[in-house]
Amino acid sequence: MEEKAFFNLSYGVFVLGANLDGKINACITNTCMQVANDPTRIAIAAINTNLTCEMIKKSGTFSLSVLDKDTTFDTIKHFGYQSGRNVDKFADFAYELDANKNPYIKKQICSLLTCKIISSTDLGTHSLFIAEVQDAKVMSDKAPITYADYQKDIKPKTKVQTDKKIIGWRCKICGYELNESNLPSDFVCPICGHPADDFEPIYAD
Ligand SMILES: Cc1cc2nc3c(=O)[nH]c(=O)nc-3n(C[C@H](O)[C@H](O)[C@H](O)COP(=O)(O)O)c2cc1C
Repeated sequence: MEEKAFFNLSYGVFVLGANLDGKINACITNTCMQVANDPTRIAIAAINTNLTCEMIKKSGTFSLSVLDKDTTFDTIKHFGYQSGRNVDKFADFAYELDANKNPYIKKQICSLLTCKIISSTDLGTHSLFIAEVQDAKVMSDKAPITYADYQKDIKPKTKVQTDKKIIGWRCKICGYELNESNLPSDFVCPICGHPADDFEPIYAD
C-alpha cells in the first residue's frame, strides 16, 4: 500500500472545542465532513489519546471552528502541538462559549458549528463521531484553509542540527516515537497518519 496516496485526499483545518464539567479545552483537527442533511449531520475523527477526544466522548457535545486563510502557525501550534493535559490553552487566548458552553476562538475562523454527538465508533487509533449540527454560523467572509494550504504555506520546515547525533524521531502531532536514526522521507505516522515532515529529531544527550 502506498501511504502517500492518502495525502491526495482533501481536508480542511478546524479547532475542535470541548467542555467537561466546566473545564474547557480544544485541539486542531483536519477531519470533518458533512454526511447528512435534515437533520444536518457531520462526521469528525479524533485521536483517542487526545484530551479533547476524551472530553467530548464524556460530554456528548463539541464546537467546531472552521479556520480561515488568515490562520497563523502560532494558532495551529497553540491548539495542535500541545495538550490540555499540560497547559491551559485558553488562559491567554480570546474565546467565547457556544450554546453548549464549548469554547470557540474569536479570530481566524470563518464558520462555527455547534454540535451534539449521536454516535461514536472506536477505530483503534481514532474515534469517529457522528454529530447533529444544532446551530451553524458564518463568522467571516474569508475563505477556509485546506490541509494542503497548511502543509504548503503555513507549516515551517523542521530544522535539523547536523552537529548532533540523532537517535530517534518524534511525531509533533501525536508524540509517537520512532527509535531509529534515519527517518524515510515517505514515512507516515502509524498513530495519526501525518507525514515525515511532521517529525522532529530526538538527539543523544
Ligand atoms: C494540522 C493538524 C491536524 C490534526 N488533525 C487531527 C485530527 O484530525 N484529530 C485529532 O484528534 N487530532 C489531530 N491533530 C492533533 C491534535 O491537535 C494534537 O494532538 C493536540 O495536541 C491534542 O490536544 P489535546 O490533548 O489538548 O486534545 C492535528 C494536529 C495538526 C497540527
